[in-house]
Amino acid sequence: MDLLEIKAINTDAQRWLTKAATNLRQHLNTHFQVQTKSDRNDLVTNFDKETENFLVDQIRQNFPNDKIVSEEGFGDQVQTMHGRVWFVDPIDGTLNFVKQRNDFAMMIGLYEDGRNVLGYILNVMTDELLWGGPEIGLHLNEKVQPLPLDQPLAAGLFGVNGPMFAYNHEHVRDIAFASSGARILGSAGLEFQQVILGRQVGYISRLAPWDVAAGKILAETAGLSVTTIDGDPLDMLKSQVVLVTTRRALPEVQKIRQS
Ligand code: IPD
Ligand code: CA
Ligand code: CA
Ligand code: CA
Repeated sequence: MDLLEIKAINTDAQRWLTKAATNLRQHLNTHFQVQTKSDRNDLVTNFDKETENFLVDQIRQNFPNDKIVSEEGFGDQVQTMHGRVWFVDPIDGTLNFVKQRNDFAMMIGLYEDGRNVLGYILNVMTDELLWGGPEIGLHLNEKVQPLPLDQPLAAGLFGVNGPMFAYNHEHVRDIAFASSGARILGSAGLEFQQVILGRQVGYISRLAPWDVAAGKILAETAGLSVTTIDGDPLDMLKSQVVLVTTRRALPEVQKIRQS
């Protein structure tokens, strides 16, 4: 894809997200339906479904040959990263959305033949859209976003997944204790935003493809490291424990995990 095409897709994607977020904010105080999925805290609302349906529909209308991986079932069964693959998480942080009407994100990621192209993490309630990719750089709304400082683990806050922290699974509690402090935001997208904006030195969690796709593109554009907990490249079509950190903190995290 050349730069002109990437810029044209970027204009479209930002327009879809703006429309979806405006619609969601307008309906925040209306009654909505909440259903449980795998357990009592794994929720889906009619807004997750309507937003995903809208975003998937826009992609299909504009790019009928592309494939789509999405959380709530409107996408395709995708077996390979060959060609153009979109990832959609319509509401990331559904539990926050239901309980707080705050701290949730909309996310889109676009890959071509497995390579990063464009990523979007929109904090819906603050309207902060972090967007970009390797060809167009990193941006926060209309401004170019400076890259985060390459801080060591002890110098920054570390985002964690609640149960992993509680059980010290994969040494997550040890890693967080070696930082300045642990944080649990309840939205993988907003955790990635914090690291990319230089407000956290890392984040670790088990994540599904739609949870990580946009964040990986933006974090790598920002010069951060995104790997599995074992330090391997991510498999974009499966769930795995994901680690995003500054380059300086990465060997420190690995050392703690191997201890
Ligand atoms: C969830 C959030 C949460 C993370 C979970 C995700 P969802 O996404 O990102 O922070 O811990 O693993 O599933 O279900 O609200 O889109
Ligand atoms: Ca969910
Ligand atoms: Ca999610
Ligand atoms: Ca979701």
